[in-house]
Amino acid sequence: MKNYLTTMFWGTKNKDEFVKGIQHSVNQISPHGIFTGDNIFTYGRNLSFLDDEKFMTAFNKHIETDVEASVIWRINILCWAARQSMRIEGDFIECACYKGISARIICDYTDFGKSDKHYYLYDLFEHSSDMIHHSMPEHGEDLYTKVKNRFAELEQVHVTQGAVPEVLHQISPEKIAFLHLDLNNAPAEIGALELLFDRVSTGGIIILDDYGWLAYRAQKEAEDPFFEERGYRVLELPTGQGLIIK
Ligand SMILES: C[S@@+](CC[C@H](N)C(=O)[O-])C[C@H]1O[C@@H](n2cnc3c(N)ncnc32)[C@H](O)[C@@H]1O
Repeated sequence: MKNYLTTMFWGTKNKDEFVKGIQHSVNQISPHGIFTGDNIFTYGRNLSFLDDEKFMTAFNKHIETDVEASVIWRINILCWAARQSMRIEGDFIECACYKGISARIICDYTDFGKSDKHYYLYDLFEHSSDMIHHSMPEHGEDLYTKVKNRFAELEQVHVTQGAVPEVLHQISPEKIAFLHLDLNNAPAEIGALELLFDRVSTGGIIILDDYGWLAYRAQKEAEDPFFEERGYRVLELPTGQGLIIK
């Protein structure tokens, strides 16, 4: 029985005291199946992804920071969804990819290079103070090239710099099997859904990274009516992601 412990929790008043509290709780339980990080604390769980050798190899090969290490459960959900979507007609999309870490792990996990699918990644890669979403540590003029290099040997991965949804008119697939939205930006996510939802194949999977997080509640508030109008309801996952199977 494995454990996966990180001290990455968001929104704490005093991180050290918070972690001490978690440690105190851990001391009261049998030390098996414990997961701490990314605002999740479990015990007595199988944590099956830790036994998935292919997933763990891809994950450990590509993560670079403690934050990326802490979101392993989210990345495993993406890998599950991507693997399921390999059987569905259509291509893969991520809006937005930032450093391309989760998409790179997905490519390894699904043997994407051996498939006939295409993977479309979008991001602004740079940030300015007039943008409504927050910046990320590696935003800057080098990031676009860095991300393109990350996928250099995968010719069916297309990295495009530009603002979603406008950039989707420039290049985007007609049929979609897997759609990952992670924009921290409600108008951009709704704009993407308005353009792309009808192109998602039956059985295709949509993951909304920010859906369950209070800090990004504007996205849930915009997306719930969007999906209700079309007869769908988003499943909020314990990781904070939202899941829709079309
Ligand atoms: C949390 S990061 C994405 C992380 C990435 N999905 C991953 O799994 O590592 C959010 C990204 O959304 C991008 N973004 C926000 N609004 C955007 C827009 N309108 N068009 C393109 N990218 C946007 C930001 O530049 C930022 O890099």
